[in-house]
Amino acid sequence: DMGLEPQKILKQHELASGIVEMTVRAPMVARSARAGQFVRVLASEDGELIPLTLADWDVEAGTIDLVIQGMGTSTRLMNKMQVGDAFAGIAGPLGRPSDVHKHGEDETVVFTAGGVGLPAIYPISRAHLEIGNHVTMIVGFRSADHLFWTGEDERMGRLKAEFGEKVELIYTSNDGTFGIQGFVTTPLEEMLKAGNVANGRPIAEVVSVGPPMMMRAVSDLTKPYGVPTVVSLNSIMVDATGMCGACMVPVLTDGKTERKHACIDGPEFDAHIVEWDKFMPRFGMFRAQEGRSLERHKL
Ligand code: FES
Repeated sequence: DMGLEPQKILKQHELASGIVEMTVRAPMVARSARAGQFVRVLASEDGELIPLTLADWDVEAGTIDLVIQGMGTSTRLMNKMQVGDAFAGIAGPLGRPSDVHKHGEDETVVFTAGGVGLPAIYPISRAHLEIGNHVTMIVGFRSADHLFWTGEDERMGRLKAEFGEKVELIYTSNDGTFGIQGFVTTPLEEMLKAGNVANGRPIAEVVSVGPPMMMRAVSDLTKPYGVPTVVSLNSIMVDATGMCGACMVPVLTDGKTERKHACIDGPEFDAHIVEWDKFMPRFGMFRAQEGRSLERHKL
């Protein structure tokens, strides 16, 4: 089912240290892609399946854009691939698309993205803007050294140029070297305290993509204010086949815990019914596995 046609890399460049953006030929995926979806990529015949969020796509050119953070063995190998190289296979689009619907004329949708959460947030925010919603984007980087897409002629700048006052961009960095010092939750908390208002408009919903810790912090923050919040749990998926069980998410429905798969039932979930306490302790284990795998391959 991987459709093992070689998928050529047409463009490739490093966005920031360890983060590579690629344009890959995948006409079938581009044709049916919707905001919030991902693909499952097999870099080489003997490689591992890696889920990657669709950062962008171009139906006419028959291409998709992927942003890959070199975290484990496979993603580091992918990031070494060059223009002209080909992936062994790309399957998709997969996952349920984002629920993008029109909000009130006076309302806004707040997005919070941490690091490589930005490529996942970008198509979703664009889809909201295209149907006329107002959007506030809070994008957090570790420091000025880790920035990408923020320049005037890069994606965020072009979004601003295209949609003008419909989109508000707010940047944060942990060390204060770019934008507001703090985390994405820093400006978000101010907005909630000011009466659930962003850019002078009531917040209709919050959409968050980033490391699990960040999504949990956003969820904990918005819950007491009753602001509907969606998290996209791409970052916990391992093979996106529905088989490995690594992406199990406990959610509370009708007082009972239901176990969902991020790669099948998601990647988006209502943040306020995710049982974060049962769910968070697992992440230490993933890091340990990645560490072992890296050692074995001496990368
Ligand atoms: Fe393996 Fe979902 S990522 S089952």
